[in-house]
Amino acid sequence: MSVIEVEQLTKDYGSHRGVFDVSFEVGEGEVFGFLGPNGAGKTTTIRHLMGFSKPQSGAIKVSNKDSWKDAAAIKREVGYLPGELAFPKNMTGKAFIDFMARERQISDMTKTDHLIDMFELDISPKLDTMSLGTRRKVAIVTAFMHDPDILVLDEPTSGLDPVMQERFIEFLLEEKRAGKSILLSSHIFSEVDATCDRIAIIKEGEVVSTVVADDIRKNENKTYKIEFADENEYQRFVDNTSLDTTVKRPRQNQVKVEIKDENIKELFTDLSQYQLNFITEEKFSLEDYFMNFYDTNKSVSSGEEVLSHGIH
Ligand SMILES: Nc1ncnc2c1ncn2[C@@H]1O[C@H](COP(=O)(O)OP(=O)(O)OP(=O)(O)O)[C@@H](O)[C@H]1O
Ligand SMILES: [Mg+2]
Repeated sequence: MSVIEVEQLTKDYGSHRGVFDVSFEVGEGEVFGFLGPNGAGKTTTIRHLMGFSKPQSGAIKVSNKDSWKDAAAIKREVGYLPGELAFPKNMTGKAFIDFMARERQISDMTKTDHLIDMFELDISPKLDTMSLGTRRKVAIVTAFMHDPDILVLDEPTSGLDPVMQERFIEFLLEEKRAGKSILLSSHIFSEVDATCDRIAIIKEGEVVSTVVADDIRKNENKTYKIEFADENEYQRFVDNTSLDTTVKRPRQNQVKVEIKDENIKELFTDLSQYQLNFITEEKFSLEDYFMNFYDTNKSVSSGEEVLSHGIH
């Protein structure tokens, strides 16, 4: 069952800005990554999902409720961490957290106290004097304090230091084990790699790829970089090999060979006939996959196109 359904959402701000025909679903208990370069449309989609904007066309359902008509109910039910933080002025962190607890009628503060401890958060200063990272921690506490089953997180760790980012990943994995459904927009590959089941990539307002993260993690293709001892050895290999040499660098006497794991014996049998300087494995990771979309000089029209380079 899907807990979030985005169906052909369009919001055209003009000059190719906005989101166009965006569709994806987040299943129950799924951690769904939402990635894309700056200005791609992540926050715009998420704000529609939370009922802050009315879709120009298309519709969004969260927990079977319409994101625009039932916005108030969705805001109560979902744990939301906004990308841009806006807090009331002149309030201490503690006053704000107490206020949110009253709003949500939370009587048991166990989860709230656990979050404050975990993120080593001092809630006594006023919010507008806190550092960016500290304010982000306050936002994390208020997103999770009512223990919601659905979480919508727009770049939750931006501004957090590496130790706190790591702690957040551990916490997210705890929430995942507890069966929560999570939409996570992020620019941090390690965070996405550690937590996500599926990932959608949005570019220039359009979803250009939706992938199962394990399909990339379990990629059975490997690229090996090989440097031959000299020009003759390099040329002899290039002339005789039946392996697929994807990149040739004659000046460095190097080639790159892409093979399936099962063909590794063939590669090494072949190479035993040559004098080498070195051979190194170049792993194809989630990060390589994403970077294909982030590179603004490359126009990628479909996920399959990228997958065909890295995964077969
Ligand atoms: N209210 C608005 N009026 C006009 N244009 C807008 C408005 N809100 C967003 N945009 C434009 O829509 C595009 C998508 O912006 P959005 O904030 O959704 O990107 P994002 O993917 O969240 O980027 P980032 O990674 O930088 O947070 C941008 O070109 C932005 O300038
Ligand atoms: Mg954003």
